[in-house]
Amino acid sequence: MAMTQPGARPMNPRFSSGPCAKPPTFTLNDLSDAALGRSHRAAVGKDKLKAAIEETRTLLGVPADYKIGIVPASDTGAMEMAMWSLLGARPCTMVAWESFGAGWVTDVVKQLKLDAEVKTADYGEIVDMAALDYDTDVVFTWNGTTSGVRVANGDVIPATRAGLTICDATSAAFAMDLPWDKLDVTTFSWQKVLGGEAAHGMLILSPRAVERLESYTPAWPLPKIFRLTKGGKLIDGIFSGATINTPSMLAVEDYLNCLKWARSVGGLQGLIARADANAQAIWDFCANRDWIDNLAVDAATRSNTSVCLKFTDPRITDGAAFAKAVAKRLEAEGVALDVGAYRDAPAGLRIWCGGTVETADIEAMLPWLDWAFDAEITALAEAA
Ligand SMILES: Cc1ncc(COP(=O)(O)O)c(C=O)c1O
Repeated sequence: MAMTQPGARPMNPRFSSGPCAKPPTFTLNDLSDAALGRSHRAAVGKDKLKAAIEETRTLLGVPADYKIGIVPASDTGAMEMAMWSLLGARPCTMVAWESFGAGWVTDVVKQLKLDAEVKTADYGEIVDMAALDYDTDVVFTWNGTTSGVRVANGDVIPATRAGLTICDATSAAFAMDLPWDKLDVTTFSWQKVLGGEAAHGMLILSPRAVERLESYTPAWPLPKIFRLTKGGKLIDGIFSGATINTPSMLAVEDYLNCLKWARSVGGLQGLIARADANAQAIWDFCANRDWIDNLAVDAATRSNTSVCLKFTDPRITDGAAFAKAVAKRLEAEGVALDVGAYRDAPAGLRIWCGGTVETADIEAMLPWLDWAFDAEITALAEAA
């Protein structure tokens, strides 16, 4: 007989890995000061865009000589703009251990048709970052959102290197310490760790990345939406709030509100502590059960945002069907929404643990995972 349902439910069952849960205090009233119906080029709009850039710098500790721009098309836009604008000047190494990194490999090998050195690892594993040649341009993802595997730290990236490091940090920024001196291009989107709205991407450039932009012209054409230079000079306006095209001022206001909330919980270190506590609750849960485990093989690479789990019970014959059924049960009970593994990833669950998620909600959800697992195992036994 299946176990009875837990008594308590999470206050907020949103554990999606993007768009992620909004800050716990969020209400639509928080956006009442949005510069709606106003030009983004008017002082009111430009000031907000500039504030979004400078508050990002302060919160993330981005060095004063790095450029921060708000660009179109979310994290994908920021990453593709960087790759299309910077790659081709020197040999390049593409690094991937899950779906999004693999997408950047496809971009570079199949679309840009560059003869890149491609280094990959299976879901759960990571590429040996110490073995890469940093005199080539290296493109990688800090936190693999679909496998829950992250770079442990940037120690192995040499401080002095001839190539650029181009890092997709969309599910890492605001949850992990990023070593700015080791990163020449960093991208993320508002919809991830801070629970902002999907629309715009953030593009952070080191002085060396700017130098490359100003000294190198790619062999391929660049659409206006990707152009960061004019007449061989960086378009500085992009990095002070004069966006390439029209942004959503509602999304900008929402991002400003997310940043304000982030400051209220102790800034970056507060956000990291929140994500760590959330992930730890799940790791402890797994450590006490023999039927579920982290997909990340090496504990040092376990993500504290996109926690990916696999079922390990030998009674499970069809892993994908089982994981789907568990996720469906959790969703039907309204206790965990959007926790199925990513479509290309191994079967399992993915539970977002970024700072906008409350640890109390993770803790209230986990007994339901026991319950859903038990219910599905019981159903399997009854069908046999
Ligand atoms: C690592 C990574 N890269 C890129 C993306 C794509 O982001 P966006 O849809 O914001 O462009 C995602 C989205 O989940 C991601 O997790």
